[in-house]
Amino acid sequence: MTMAFHISLVGRSDLSGEIYRQIRQAILDGRLRPGERLSSTRELAAALMVARSTVTVAYESLLAEGFATSHTGAGTFVSHQLEAKRPASKTRRSTVRAPQVRGVWETITLPPPAFFHGAPFDFRTGFTDASLFPHRAWRRVVARALRSREMAASGYEPPAGNWELRAAISRHIGISRSVSGSPDDVIVTNGTQQALDIIARVLLEPGDVIAVEDPGYRPPRYLFKALGARVIGVPVDSEGLVVEALPAEAKAVYVTPSHQYPLGVAMSLSRRRALLAWAERHNAVVIEDDYDSEFRFGGRPLEPLQTLDSTGRVVYVGTFSKTLLPTLRLGFMVVPPSLREAAHKAKHVTDWHTATIAQSALARFIDEGAFARHIRKVSRTYSERHEVLTAAIKRNFVDDLDLVPSSTGLHVAAYARGASVDHIDAIASRAFDLGVAIQTISRVDGTPQAAAIVLGYGAIETARIGEGLRRLRRCFDEGVPRLPKRRDRRR
Ligand SMILES: Cc1ncc(COP(=O)(O)O)c(C=O)c1O
Repeated sequence: MTMAFHISLVGRSDLSGEIYRQIRQAILDGRLRPGERLSSTRELAAALMVARSTVTVAYESLLAEGFATSHTGAGTFVSHQLEAKRPASKTRRSTVRAPQVRGVWETITLPPPAFFHGAPFDFRTGFTDASLFPHRAWRRVVARALRSREMAASGYEPPAGNWELRAAISRHIGISRSVSGSPDDVIVTNGTQQALDIIARVLLEPGDVIAVEDPGYRPPRYLFKALGARVIGVPVDSEGLVVEALPAEAKAVYVTPSHQYPLGVAMSLSRRRALLAWAERHNAVVIEDDYDSEFRFGGRPLEPLQTLDSTGRVVYVGTFSKTLLPTLRLGFMVVPPSLREAAHKAKHVTDWHTATIAQSALARFIDEGAFARHIRKVSRTYSERHEVLTAAIKRNFVDDLDLVPSSTGLHVAAYARGASVDHIDAIASRAFDLGVAIQTISRVDGTPQAAAIVLGYGAIETARIGEGLRRLRRCFDEGVPRLPKRRDRRR
């Protein structure tokens, strides 16, 4: 296939030489790949508005130097022999002043490569079991969406998302979580992370304070910082966020009340009420991240903050990353009326709207009852994993780990008894060498916290949990005599 390739001749005099140099550079830096067909001399001459002979001279130089080969009747192609010679990507010349990156990016780290690859015994949090994904049913609804009017629509859509999906979400969370919100209040987003981005843009001026849980989920922390907010960590105990410790100046509080990330505790009802009363006194907004509460393995569910709120100051955020797949990048938020218009504008200026085919497919998936059936089915699997994992921890780590009680979601946390933060990090490192991926909550932004581990059971097959924990047991038994290089694999 021939791709239109951009060549600029503006202000140049040696036109053949310029065409030759620009194509050669594109071959060298990999924009034109071996085997790719170059435009014919006639096409390129017409596109550049030059004589055909000008292009022919350039092509002859490329052929003579081995950058291109020609096959009679088929055209001119980038040579295959160049692959080995290709230099690495352009490096910065030291004499050139580089554009300035904002300092905040120095303080933000990407997850290390190990985080994306996992391990044979994969206890990473945030991951689900792709083999449980309902591929066949999903293919069917996507195929339907591809035939539907969304496909025929040629323009952009309103920012809040596909109406059928907003209605389906509103019904679903009304039934499963007693969240009250009409389709008008729902905005479809690219996952939780974008919902938080939008709401932060709506609420926070640079320098404004947002309170987050400490320990807590790091991606939002980084996001708020990147947007110029002052992020203040507030401790969490066995009842959830310690409301008395909230900074009075906070304009917003980001919490995970159903299943605190990473400790796993549920916020008690009295704390929920206290948090809402605090928010009312301080005219603050509460952002409720309800990321994995569809999976509950016992105990009575507590009412979401959104349901308890009578003053319209809770933004409820949900995601399909746990119930379906994180790679779908589909989530939503239910916003109180006072924030709705600004949230629509913020979504609009961010990315216009979420991809419509996926929205339309998901709407149908929910409406047909396939989503509810899927949740029931995978809940049984995750419940079994929760049971196997927690029983084995209680049985085999009696002297080492204190499990934090938790009956929701896809991970559990455990404090390491008598271990230091360095020790627990070293155990995680050693476990990784033995094929076991676990996360620790030992440090937040480099400051030592509790010596604790987090074990996710979304990704690991039930049958592999036992062997994974036996290997982890070995790491505790070995006592980690030396501290290997610390590998940061927290989130
Ligand atoms: C606390 C918390 N919120 C939300 C998410 C999901 O984020 P997203 O919807 O952006 O995939 C996760 C995933 O691990 C999480 O741990």
